[in-house]
Amino acid sequence: MEPTREQAWETLTRYTKSESLLRHALAVEASTAAYARKFGEDEELWRVAALLHDFDYEMHPTLDKHPQDGAPILREEGYPEEVIDTVLSHAEHLALPRDTQLKKALFACDEMSGFIHACALVRPTGLEGLEPKSVKKKLKQPSFAAGVHRDEVYAGAELLGLDLDRHIANVIEAMRGSAAELGLERTASA
Ligand SMILES: [Fe+2]
Ligand SMILES: [Fe+2]
Repeated sequence: MEPTREQAWETLTRYTKSESLLRHALAVEASTAAYARKFGEDEELWRVAALLHDFDYEMHPTLDKHPQDGAPILREEGYPEEVIDTVLSHAEHLALPRDTQLKKALFACDEMSGFIHACALVRPTGLEGLEPKSVKKKLKQPSFAAGVHRDEVYAGAELLGLDLDRHIANVIEAMRGSAAELGLERTASA
């Protein structure tokens, strides 16, 4: 059975109540889905994997449990192994191969969308007018959004075979389409 985006959202929201985690899931979903369309891949399946990648983080906030202890739950819920494999592969500490376009895209969108979210939050106009140039500048300031692993941001773009500017622009554009749900909608005059 092919899982649906709706089913993944239902699973995610059953295990995750934190607004910031839900926004993270939606940001990763929007960016991963944009790559699915660009690459002509299965957008619905890519959305499912993106929404679920951190579904267990609220109950398993440490790396000795996340995401590996979430996998049996996803299996029980009937998600295909491709989704479970992909979810597991986003975790650096598991050192699993990112050997599909979906795994690459998920990894590339995870830290990048978080970083862009942080950039947009400190701008009065949010995502509007945010340029790759200013994102790159902030990437070089270690104290800004210090929790975002810069090496993973760079590795993600490389994994997709995209230059950093292109990848940043793609993720900004994808997130713009979901600005309201991401809490990043600003009034035009703000
Ligand atoms: Fe994670
Ligand atoms: Fe994540």
